[in-house]
Amino acid sequence: MTREEWLNVGSKWKTSSSKLHVLFPALDAIMGDVANKRILDAGCGDGVFVQRSREKGAKAKGVDLSPDSIQACKKRDSSGDYEAMDVTTMSLKETFDYVLSLFVLLSFEKKEIDFKSYQKHGISS
Ligand SMILES: C[S@@+](CC[C@H](N)C(=O)[O-])C[C@H]1O[C@@H](n2cnc3c(N)ncnc32)[C@H](O)[C@@H]1O
Repeated sequence: MTREEWLNVGSKWKTSSSKLHVLFPALDAIMGDVANKRILDAGCGDGVFVQRSREKGAKAKGVDLSPDSIQACKKRDSSGDYEAMDVTTMSLKETFDYVLSLFVLLSFEKKEIDFKSYQKHGISS
């Protein structure tokens, strides 16, 4: 999908129950205890993974291209850290223990360039 198409989707994107009950527990098993870990969800959509990580004690941040999505994230998780930005050009001051990007890269055209933006923010994967 193009940027314009994602911007049109905005806050209509909702985390599915298969993610909640299958993918997220699988990520828990890979990531282990995330308390005090710094997590970046790059293309966070509705922010459910960010909120869930924060509830587990992580310092999680969510970024998404869509200002509409980010607004909805902040509305649902008012003390969460959410910011509208393009992950292919993002330049954050902090680095992270984990940088996740679930179902986001499929919309990129130049994957080998876009990965550099991720690499500069992550100290592990
Ligand atoms: C398929 S949804 C996945 C959302 C979330 N990661 C999930 O698993 O529920 C793709 C998300 O990536 C965002 N996105 C697409 N291209 C992006 C970009 N270049 N920078 C930031 N976010 C982007 C879209 O706005 C959308 O919220």
